[in-house]
Parts: sequence; structure tokens; C-alpha cells
Amino acid sequence: MTDMQERSDALVLFGATGDLAYKKLFPSLYAMVERGTLAEPVIGVAYEPWDVEKLKARAHDSVAAALGSVDEAVFAKLAGLLHYVSGDYRNQSTFDALKEALGEARRPLHYLAVPPSMFEPVVQGLEQSGAATGARIMVEKPFGRDLQTARWLNRILHMVFEEKAIFRIDHYLGKEAIQNLLYFRFANSFLEPIWNRNFVESVQLTMAEDFGVQGRGKFYDEVGCIRDVIENHLLQVLLLLAMEPPAGHSADDLIDEKVQVLKAIRPLAAEDVVRGQFAGYLDEPGVKPGSTVETFAAVRLFIDTWRWHGVPFYIRAGKCLPVRATEVVVRLKRPPLDVFDPIGPDDANSLRFRISPQVAIAIGARRKRAGDEMVGEPVELTALDETAGDMEPYERLISDAMNGNSQLFTRQDASEAAWRIVAPVLDEATPPAIYQPGSWGPQEAMTAFAPPHGWLDPK
Ligand code: BG6
Repeated sequence: MTDMQERSDALVLFGATGDLAYKKLFPSLYAMVERGTLAEPVIGVAYEPWDVEKLKARAHDSVAAALGSVDEAVFAKLAGLLHYVSGDYRNQSTFDALKEALGEARRPLHYLAVPPSMFEPVVQGLEQSGAATGARIMVEKPFGRDLQTARWLNRILHMVFEEKAIFRIDHYLGKEAIQNLLYFRFANSFLEPIWNRNFVESVQLTMAEDFGVQGRGKFYDEVGCIRDVIENHLLQVLLLLAMEPPAGHSADDLIDEKVQVLKAIRPLAAEDVVRGQFAGYLDEPGVKPGSTVETFAAVRLFIDTWRWHGVPFYIRAGKCLPVRATEVVVRLKRPPLDVFDPIGPDDANSLRFRISPQVAIAIGARRKRAGDEMVGEPVELTALDETAGDMEPYERLISDAMNGNSQLFTRQDASEAAWRIVAPVLDEATPPAIYQPGSWGPQEAMTAFAPPHGWLDPK
């Protein structure tokens, strides 16, 4: 599924000295060079008064830290592509210097790995320097902090770039397991007859992280769990589970179907949410005294379509939980009668999609236990269980954006529709329930808030 487009002839990295560039972007660029998919100039832009040698040293450190070792021949090729422009994003001279560094490039990809408050000056500077002409622009999450700010960001981008030149990143969509989920749903006919309210009892998504805010207290305290991962990453996974098959092969065909689901999801009501905060969060550097920001949230969503009416979709996510794992479980209704031994609701058929750390698809079934009696036991048929492949999400997404393929990116209408769903429950001033690090969230509140027959904790 590709939109055939002319490839970008340069990559501009705003925020080149920042955390994201260090942790994710340089290792991805290195992997692209190694794979032979990047030979265009890469121009880092940032405020720090560095020169290109310092940027190269930083890129080297970043690759070494991410991969453990560096193939110097590969790195030399990457280093040969790097340029650096230093300057303030509020000064036009920064963009004039960038335009000069772009030389003959006619279709650069500008990657804004900077806070959303910087989008406006950067977009304007690009336009005034002429560096926006023929260009594409890629923007990091968070895409706004509510519906209003998302609309405002969209307006700013649209003043200069047309929609098909805008690439809004959600790195979850670049994960191998997410691609696999989409493939599995629409490449197998056995799922279709059961994939609806007649057979599915509930759907649950868990994104558990066994670490805290890792020095990002200031960022996290302005965001919280619902904005950080539910509004974007996990809602995107839900859309792939719930959407109808796309009518064609273009990126728009796929996104059209996602938007149909987004429109049919009821906005969250207070009783559809449990919020928690891990004990000790308030002592994290950067966190405001008495902060009521949630580090854990569980939500229940309903999709008002013929396919899904009445089926609850539960999502829970949090920091400082017992494991690091992201998983989906689709639980089917139990058989209408017990022909042999009694089948408990817990033993009903299910489908499990492990998204990370491994990629796995498993079908939960029952089989007869060996022996005289017709007594069964639960078993999982693992359809796939492999390592996640060697392509990191950012590598896939940067490559796609350079090729003008927008299939794995979020369109304007989708970016706004997602905010509409979570809007009623953002910025709660009531304190969230406290939970102990290493537990599955606030126990008391979660006892009453669970899919029929309970949560299934990823192992
Ligand atoms: C980011 C969030 O978008 O996704 C982080 O800001 C979170 O809080 C991260 O830890 C998880 O991504 P991954 O790919 O490590 O599962």
C-alpha cells in the first residue's frame, strides 16, 4: 500500500541535540544507512552553538548507547551525510542558514522533534526562507493537549503545508506487531464471522510499564497517562481491532475506516474511567507539589456501530506496574451449553495479540486432557511467536515519510476525533487513587472496574 510520490532529497532534524534524537533518531538513521535506504543529506538544527563535529560525536555516542557497538564503516557513511545549523527558532537568520545548507534540495523532509509550542515559529521561518516550498513536514506527539490545541496546531501547519505533506507521528503505528495485527485481521477469513458483538464478549488492551517517569517528571506532569499513551498509541491499536476492511490500497482508504470508528466511539463519561498515581510520584523531580496527574488509567469505551454495539473495550495503562508488556485480549462468549465438563467463563475462547516485548498471536482454546474421562484443559495455540524483527518504528516511519507514504501517520480529522473522545475526562482536579509501585494499579477502584470475568495480566 504506497502512495507513489517523489522521494525527499534531504532530511532536516529540528531538535537534533535533544533527547529523542539521541535515544531514537540517530540509531534509526544509522540503521537506514546500514540497510542502504538513506543516502540523502541530514541537516541537524538546534539552539546549541555546536559545529558538525560535535553533532557527529553525539550521533556516535547515541548509536553506541542504543546498539552496544558501532560498525565504523557504516557510521562513517552516516557522518558523511550530517550537517549542522545552529540558531534560535525565533530568528529568521536560522532558517536562511538552513535554506543555504539545503543547497540544491527541492523536496526536503522537515522533522520537528521539538515541543508543540515551537511549531509556529518553525513553520513560519521555513516559509519565509523558502525552505517550505516542495517540502514535507513530520511532527512528533503530543499533537496538542486537547481538541482546541490540536485544531490550532492543524491550522498552523495548514497555513504553509497541504495535508498530504504533513506526517503526524505515532510511533506505535511503526511497530512490527501493529502491522501484523492489521495484516492478521484482514488476511484471514476465519475471523470475520466471529469478529462482532454476536461472538465477542469484550476486548481488553493492557500497556504496562515496570518503570516510573525516568527523569521526565516535568514533561509527564503536564501530560498524564491518558494524554501520554491512551489518546494516541492505545486508541490506534483499538482502531485496528475495530475497523472495517479498507475499500482500497491507498493511505486514505485505511484512514477513512479508522475515522469511521473514531466517530462511533462514545466520548468517555466519568464512570468509564479509573485514575491512579503511584506512591512516590510526588517526590519525582519536576512534579508539582500536590499534583493530581494520573500515572495509571483504565477506561471503558463503547463503539456504536452494528458490529460492536454493546461490546465493552477496556484499556489500561500505567507506570510502575509489575511487568513491561503491551497486549490485547479479545475474549469470545462461552459455548451455550456444557456438553462434557463445565466450562468456566475464564476458559472461554480468546485471541491474544502480544505487541511487546515479543510479537505473538495466540488462540485460546480447550482440549481434552489425556485419560479416561472427557475432561478438558485450556491450551493456547500460538500462531506466531518471533522476535519483533530488526526494524525499529522510527526507522520505518522516517523512511515512509521520506517516500511520501502516509499510511502509518495520523490524518487531521483522526487527530481531532481522538481528542473528542477523551475530552470529558482530561484535567481532573480530584486526586487519583494511590497505588503501590509493582501492583496492577489502584486495587480497590479496579476491583469494580473490569471486563466481564476480569482482567488478564500479561506475563
Ligand atoms: C511514549 C510515551 O510515547 O511511549 C512514554 O511518552 C512511553 O511514556 C513510550 O514509555 C512507550 O513506547 P514503547 O515503544 O517503548 O512501548
